Amino acid sequence: MAFQKVLELSELPAGTSKVVKLGNKKVALFNYNGKITALGNACLHRGGPLGLGCVEKKNDGYYVTCPWHGWEYNIESGAAPPGYHDQQSVFEVKVEGNDILLNDKELVAAKKANHDSPLLEDLVKLKYQTTPDSLNILGISATNMNNGLPRYSTSEAALEDVLEYAKEKHNAATKTLKLRNLNFRHCEGYYSQHAQACNWPCSITEAEPADGMTQIYTDMVLWADIVLLATPIRWGQASSLYYKMCERLNTVQNQITIKDKILIKNKVASFIITGGQDNIQQVSGQMMSFFTSLGFVIPPFSFVGWSRGWTAEDMDKNVLQFKKNEYVKRSSREMLDNTVELLMNIKKMDYKKITAPLPHKKDSFTGDMENPDMNL
Ligand code: FES
Repeated sequence: MAFQKVLELSELPAGTSKVVKLGNKKVALFNYNGKITALGNACLHRGGPLGLGCVEKKNDGYYVTCPWHGWEYNIESGAAPPGYHDQQSVFEVKVEGNDILLNDKELVAAKKANHDSPLLEDLVKLKYQTTPDSLNILGISATNMNNGLPRYSTSEAALEDVLEYAKEKHNAATKTLKLRNLNFRHCEGYYSQHAQACNWPCSITEAEPADGMTQIYTDMVLWADIVLLATPIRWGQASSLYYKMCERLNTVQNQITIKDKILIKNKVASFIITGGQDNIQQVSGQMMSFFTSLGFVIPPFSFVGWSRGWTAEDMDKNVLQFKKNEYVKRSSREMLDNTVELLMNIKKMDYKKITAPLPHKKDSFTGDMENPDMNL
């Protein structure tokens, strides 16, 4: 047990915080309320840097908020706010002249309370529900509409038809998720602070297990063999709900970056894209690129597109024409047959041999540079 100089007092003016090194640990120093205090820098949640967090007076004292996802700790006692039971490590501080010294032995040890939710247990443990013989087809409808004013959706109608066909022809188990009926938060972009700040399952889901993405993660990652994604074209792109879901799926792709772990294995994705005006190839291109980045296999002829062209402003005739046209029904069914055929073949593949040829941290130009404030 020994005190070590870690900083000069003049480097820690009142109302500031700083991350310092103490042996092989990183410690967050705080100078608030006329006192210098020290906590372990690594947040108990995912290791975020507490020394970069905001400090405010609240509850029974001064609290630091972790900049990654908002966990809070009393900067003197290391305790979580009233009602929580996490305890961050605390270090003893001595000021001698202009020197700040820290005792290298923790005064209070860190202790993380149990935050597990039964709703997330299957996701955390990755309890896959697929088998070598399963044929589970998940339809995702990305169209948005007011359920109080329901109307005919061409993309959703095509999806419903092909799922019925899958049940009849292939004896598939099917499920439909309508994104508009799932209440889920936008991605809040924690990844942009540190790759480790985006974990599995998503930190928003951890904080709010009832968030609608829990259903999507469970059905897409654990249950589905095939995902059929149906979207309208809105301003030349897939619907905004589709993109909202994609952003929250960063957690799936990021497992490859931070753990070299592919969550999506032996699964196939195909797409139904309909719109009054065109841009089908761009919409399908984005979808193929995104789904293959998650680990899905994309079949040949992986999308069905239907649109009426640039001048089709007579939208009142859109549904009439769609219903009259046999093309979408026929081609969606053919696409489904191909998708099932491909699935049956990839189920025989040894997925342990599949690697993800994506960039790793070491491939970054600054991959070997240490960030002195970070713990990881
Ligand atoms: S709140 Fe600190 S790492 Fe998540």
